[in-house]
Amino acid sequence: MNAGTGAGTDRDRGAGTDTAANNEQAELWNGIAGRGWVEAQEVMDDLLRPFETRLLEELAAVMDESPVRTLLDVGCGTGSTTMAAARRMGADGRCVGVDISEPMLNHARSRAQAQAKDLAIEFVHADAQEHALEKDFYDQIISRFGVMFFADSIKAFANLRSGIKSGGRLAFVAWRSPQENPFMTVPVKAAAQFVEIPPTPPNAPGQFGFADSKWVEHILKESGWVDVEIDPFDTTCSMPSENLRDFLNNVGPVSRLLPNVDDSKKQQIIDATIDALEPYKKDSEISFDAACWLVRARA
Ligand SMILES: C[S@@+](CC[C@H](N)C(=O)[O-])C[C@H]1O[C@@H](n2cnc3c(N)ncnc32)[C@H](O)[C@@H]1O
Repeated sequence: MNAGTGAGTDRDRGAGTDTAANNEQAELWNGIAGRGWVEAQEVMDDLLRPFETRLLEELAAVMDESPVRTLLDVGCGTGSTTMAAARRMGADGRCVGVDISEPMLNHARSRAQAQAKDLAIEFVHADAQEHALEKDFYDQIISRFGVMFFADSIKAFANLRSGIKSGGRLAFVAWRSPQENPFMTVPVKAAAQFVEIPPTPPNAPGQFGFADSKWVEHILKESGWVDVEIDPFDTTCSMPSENLRDFLNNVGPVSRLLPNVDDSKKQQIIDATIDALEPYKKDSEISFDAACWLVRARA
């Protein structure tokens, strides 16, 4: 078990020192976004559970064909999918979660210490685009919404490709377009009454950076992956309505606007957003349809 520190192994060579290429994202995920995700970890893990389940089904299908002993979880955040994969792989498995966010990894490490002491899990603080991975080491790479943030996605996926064994598999989920995910855009529209929202260029690193499947296909083919499959994955996500205020304060695009406004404007933004999300309220739950890609490829 190595969840405590993740230090002193080949896999964390240069940890924390190679983030220059993704400075902006590093700042975000080590600052407001990382702290928000730690704060909202339980809510987020429940909300995003259908994606974890789908990735585990994918892992199980690969394990039915050949052993999966080593797995890398990219942009693992607070570690839910890393621990779930480690449980699925059992005593013979070794799982590594890599992330650029120190606060999220610290949370992941203490969760693994408390919940998965008997499993071989290691958390590495590094930029997955630049970090020197052990060559031909992994059987499987997974990611739940952790791969859309690279400044140079082709370089990042070529780097991930270098760490996987020949024939090894990649499976990740990423959001489709904002138009297909109105639950994500409604809050931003509500907030736009109060603050200026900077435009996001298409394919720019961020939540919707992989919305265009042609772009994703181009990235994977250019970085040496084969048998690329990109399929829609639609599911329903839900959370108790009582968690909505916390969710909006801590996670997602609206939360990132809040540190720059005074307390009364902050309240107005959150109240307006909660009103705008009223159609998503059913009994005591908020639920919405999520439109994503399930992306699979082989090395
Ligand atoms: C949307 S969160 C998803 C976290 C986690 N996979 C989950 O589902 O709970 C995106 C994650 O990607 C990480 N990330 C962003 N850029 C990264 C990079 N260049 N290298 C490694 N991790 C990165 C962030 O720190 C964050 O933890």
